[in-house]
Order: sequence, then C-alpha cells, then structure tokens
Amino acid sequence: MELGRNLFGLSAQAKARLIDKLSSAAAARPGGHSPRRSSWETVDATGQRLDASELEGFREIGLIREAAQFLDIADPFFRVHEGIAGAETLIGSKTYINFASYNYIGLNGHPRISEAAKAAIDRYGTTVSASRPVSGERPLHRELEQALARLHGCEDCVALVGGHSTNVTVVGHLLGRNDLIVHDALIHNSIAQGAALSGARRAPFRHLDHEAADRLLGELRPRFDRALLVIEGHYSMDGDVPDLPGFIAVARHHRAWLMVDEAHALGVLGPRGFGTADRFGVDPGEVDIWMGTLSKSLVSCGGYIAGKKDLIDYLKHSAPGFVFSVGMAPPSSIGAGRLAQAMFQRGINVQPILYPAVPERAARLRFFLTAAHTEEQIRDTVRILLEESRRVALEPRDLAAVVRHLGNFAATR
Ligand SMILES: Cc1ncc(COP(=O)(O)O)c(C=O)c1O
Repeated sequence: MELGRNLFGLSAQAKARLIDKLSSAAAARPGGHSPRRSSWETVDATGQRLDASELEGFREIGLIREAAQFLDIADPFFRVHEGIAGAETLIGSKTYINFASYNYIGLNGHPRISEAAKAAIDRYGTTVSASRPVSGERPLHRELEQALARLHGCEDCVALVGGHSTNVTVVGHLLGRNDLIVHDALIHNSIAQGAALSGARRAPFRHLDHEAADRLLGELRPRFDRALLVIEGHYSMDGDVPDLPGFIAVARHHRAWLMVDEAHALGVLGPRGFGTADRFGVDPGEVDIWMGTLSKSLVSCGGYIAGKKDLIDYLKHSAPGFVFSVGMAPPSSIGAGRLAQAMFQRGINVQPILYPAVPERAARLRFFLTAAHTEEQIRDTVRILLEESRRVALEPRDLAAVVRHLGNFAATR
C-alpha cells in the first residue's frame, strides 16, 4: 500500500494510532465492525470465510477514505469519463482539461485508428478465444509485432495481452533462483513482481545511477549464474531519462543482460519518437530485451518484448503469460502433433496440448466445444478423427477417450 505508507507524511506510530482510532470509531457505528486478524488457532466458524478486512493494506484504504471525508475531499479515483479522454474530457456532463491519461501523442480517438479497429472487429469479431498457440493467430498479430520490431530496430517481437503481465511473466520466466536482477530503485512494480516470481536475488541501485549499478554488479555478479540489469527508458513519475550508453557499458562489462522498459519512452523520446535508442542514437542491438506497452502512446492495451529472433521464439513457446496452458513441443509428443496436423489438412482446426501443459505421456488434442457447433460438425469430426488417428497410429486407449468425450457432447444436443 504505497499510498497508505506515505499518508500525509505521518510517522508509522502516529499512523498506527490513527488507524486504531478510526477502526474503533467505525466499529462503534451501527452495522460497523473492526478489522481483526485471526491466526489458524483462533479461526472460528465465521472466520472460515474470506474476510477482506483482515488483508494487508485493508485498514490503510479505509483510513484514507475516512481522512478524505474528514477533510471534505471528494474521492479522486475511478472517475467516469463520458467520451474520448484526450486533452479534454467529459466527467459528470462537464468538460475538463485532462491531465490524467497516457494518450501521449493524442492518438486516442484518431479517426484512422478507430476505423481500423472497427474494421478488425467486423472481420474477426471481438476475441481470438484462447492463447495463440492453441486457437491460432490473426494476420494482425504478426503485422503488429513486425511493425514493433522494425520500430525498435530488432529482429522480432512478441505481443502479449497486458503491459504489466508482460514484465511479470517475462522476468519471472527468464530468471531463476541462481540469478541476479539489478534494477533502478524506482523501477515499475511489474518488474519487481516479475523478479519476486523468478526467485532471483534482487538488488536495487540509486535512481539513474549507472556507476552505482556498476558497483553493485561488481560486488554481486560473481556469485550468480546470470544477471539482468533493468532500467526504464523514461521514468513516468519524474520524467527523467537514464544515460543509456552508460548502462550499456555496465551491462557489457559485467556480462549482464540489459532490459529497457519503454512504456513511457515510445512516442515521446527521440527525433522520430521511437524511444530511448532513438534519443541516444545507439544501436538497439546493444539492449537484449526491449519491453513496451500498447497502453500509452499507442492508445490501446497490451505489452510486448522486442529483441533477437531466438529470444522471441523462446518466449512464444515457453513464457507462461503468452503460452498460457500449452508448452513447447518436445519430440516425445509427436503423435498429438501429427494428428493435429492431419486434422488441419482435413479442414478441422484443433490444437495439440503438450508437455509441460500436461504430463509428457498425456499429450492430447483439445477440442473447444461451443454451443454453436452443429451435431453434423461433431459427427464429421469424430469420423475424420478415427480415420486420421489410424493413419498416425495413436494409442487406442487415448483415441477411445477422445471419441467418448465428443460422443457424450453430441448426445446432449
Ligand atoms: C514502466 C512501466 N512498465 C509497465 C507498465 C505496465 O503497462 P500497462 O499499464 O500497459 O499494463 C507501466 C504502467 O504504467 C509502466 O509505467
């Protein structure tokens, strides 16, 4: 609870006293109750259900509300905008000059973008249904990624559904227990969450200070297998920019990977607005991992990683936040892969689910059945599945299970 921690600059003691006072006042009100913390031993019958008031930070949230009410300050959060939020916005039927959006280069609501989005919906609908490995791509996926890769001067790019989750899943996935993550002290929460997920040792250095990063790496680097140095290209809270060439030199010197989060740099820095490499005129290839979001200058939603082709290929086949429930195909899953291909050639699009999404010996074809499938389609699928599985020599036991499943579904129609 950053907000709670810094509240009005109160000391921890004064804050704790204030929280207790406000909690007792809340409890004394009709229908009010005071937050309590129960241990496993003290849990009673009513304490078996989730009680949000026992969660960390809950009391601070209440404290902020109480204090704001006391000071007659309206809640500034979750305001409802009634139109396109640009330089101006409509809230409560009133027009405001708006300084609360990431619409950095004013593209939100641009007619060409809105028209392209509507045309895409008309053509593809509003969802691609499941992860790309499982339910397939649309041409727009690769067009977007190739455009982002070109923009960053990288070989390839992979786009994911969220900026925050991109950092969590990529950092959490690439690093492990024996590794080191050295990062700017003001790095975004998503990097910190990814670092925690990875289990790597985390070491922050003074904001923007590449000499401090150098010292830290000098001290810690020899004890770890791999090291990741993470900075942002443009820090959103203070608007300052790191010395990218300085950080590149530090990363190279200590054999650390360099990751630059371009969330607030893209569209803003550099003569072409292409971000931090553009700003410093450095070779983008000097940075191992370029990360960006689509939610700022690009007025949409999503995150991406740009870098070398092999890295992107690896992430597309293994990063949990991209792959979701299906994993890279080891050679031992070959039967399911062959059958999926054979089905595709017969006009049926079904994906193999492979290790590590399921145990190696439990690879399968996963049929997403929907209410829109007709009985005829399901019967045809079962027939073609039987024919093709004979050709690719699937184990009869597995085949029987699939057929049974599809048969049960058809029987309910
Ligand atoms: C530096 C940085 N990285 C990542 C993110 C997460 O991006 P998104 O909001 O698109 O999830 C943010 C969000 O503000 C950010 O500031």
